[in-house]
Amino acid sequence: MEAAARGRPGGGLYLHVPFCGATCSYCHFARTAAHDAPLRRRLVAGMIQELALRRERCAALAAGRRPLATAYVGGGTPSQLEPELLAELLAGTVATLSVAPDLELTVEANPETLTADAAAVWRNAGVNRVSLGIQSLDHRVLQLLGRRCDPATARRALALACRVFARVSADWILGPGLRRDRLLAELDEALDLGIEHLSLYILELHTGTPLAAAVAAGRVRMPADQQTERLYLDCCEHLAQRGLVHYEVSNFARPGGESRHNRAYWAGVPYLGLGPAASGYWGRRRYTNLTEIADYLAAVEVGRVPEADIDPLDRRARRLERVILSLRTAAGLAREQLPPHALDLARGERAGLWTLVGDRLRLTDRGWLQLDALEGQLAAALG
Ligand SMILES: C[S@@+](CC[C@H](N)C(=O)[O-])C[C@H]1O[C@@H](n2cnc3c(N)ncnc32)[C@H](O)[C@@H]1O
Repeated sequence: MEAAARGRPGGGLYLHVPFCGATCSYCHFARTAAHDAPLRRRLVAGMIQELALRRERCAALAAGRRPLATAYVGGGTPSQLEPELLAELLAGTVATLSVAPDLELTVEANPETLTADAAAVWRNAGVNRVSLGIQSLDHRVLQLLGRRCDPATARRALALACRVFARVSADWILGPGLRRDRLLAELDEALDLGIEHLSLYILELHTGTPLAAAVAAGRVRMPADQQTERLYLDCCEHLAQRGLVHYEVSNFARPGGESRHNRAYWAGVPYLGLGPAASGYWGRRRYTNLTEIADYLAAVEVGRVPEADIDPLDRRARRLERVILSLRTAAGLAREQLPPHALDLARGERAGLWTLVGDRLRLTDRGWLQLDALEGQLAAALG
């Protein structure tokens, strides 16, 4: 705790559970719908074993010099694990580390798998924040997205989560079939139920997904980019009127309700990732684990760290990452950290893409829509 007292930020932990009940038409994440109880138990044992294998390399975490400040169980769909198994995973990982007294412990859940029993077990296991994959409350949109959940189930899950947990977040996707007024009414409904945090993602169409095939075959029509951008800007304005802080390109929170886990990630705080396809950043190196569950388990079960890729991050890569992650956030970037001549500052300010306040460059909502292009320019400027 001594280091924490000196202001050293606590570390983060990400646990990747790659199981889903079904695969959504747009999803490209590392996940599978093919799993059974023995495989789920083996995976949890494997992830606990992975932490044991990583302890030596993360001496600061293991010895408590950098106590755990946040943990996030994501996926996939962690709520596919039997509640007691999820509790076992937390007991074998989070609970074995030196943990800050105000640890933020989030679990991602799908509406159809969030039950009152599961919520009670999670709470007893220390979970204090839940992130629900809602995506939409419109039956037609849910069908287009290949979701199994219907709007009534999603509403029940939102209400249940808000009853049991003080901190609830929900994900929405901006994709096909949306109607502006209906979408804003859905967001209002979720806020009125008591969520404190909202992630709003513009749908990315990935080659190889069923949705990309349906779009190519003309069975689903994606909205034009300008239409989606208009919708994003309307949501930003509406959520600001409702008192939410737009603190990162896709994230909105009631004041004080920001995700501390994600904030630490954007601030470059070290975190450990466990599980298939999980990545981590510790000791100035970034690693990504093996994606295939069988490969991952084969490694950890013989005592091998299950890494597929290690990126030692040279100075340039670290600097680029710092610049880009800062620009994603409302705090923005200190101007002296911008590569010289990377951006025409006066022109971008006139175009409403950013503001220059004191020594900081802060992207506006419109600027965040240009993030990909800006990243390209910054990467080129850093050579
Ligand atoms: C890793 S996913 C899993 C969440 C949860 N299992 C669910 O879908 O209900 C986390 C979030 O990423 C977002 N997401 C997934 N695929 C996306 C895509 N192709 N484009 C934009 N956002 C996406 C969704 O909003 C989703 O809730």
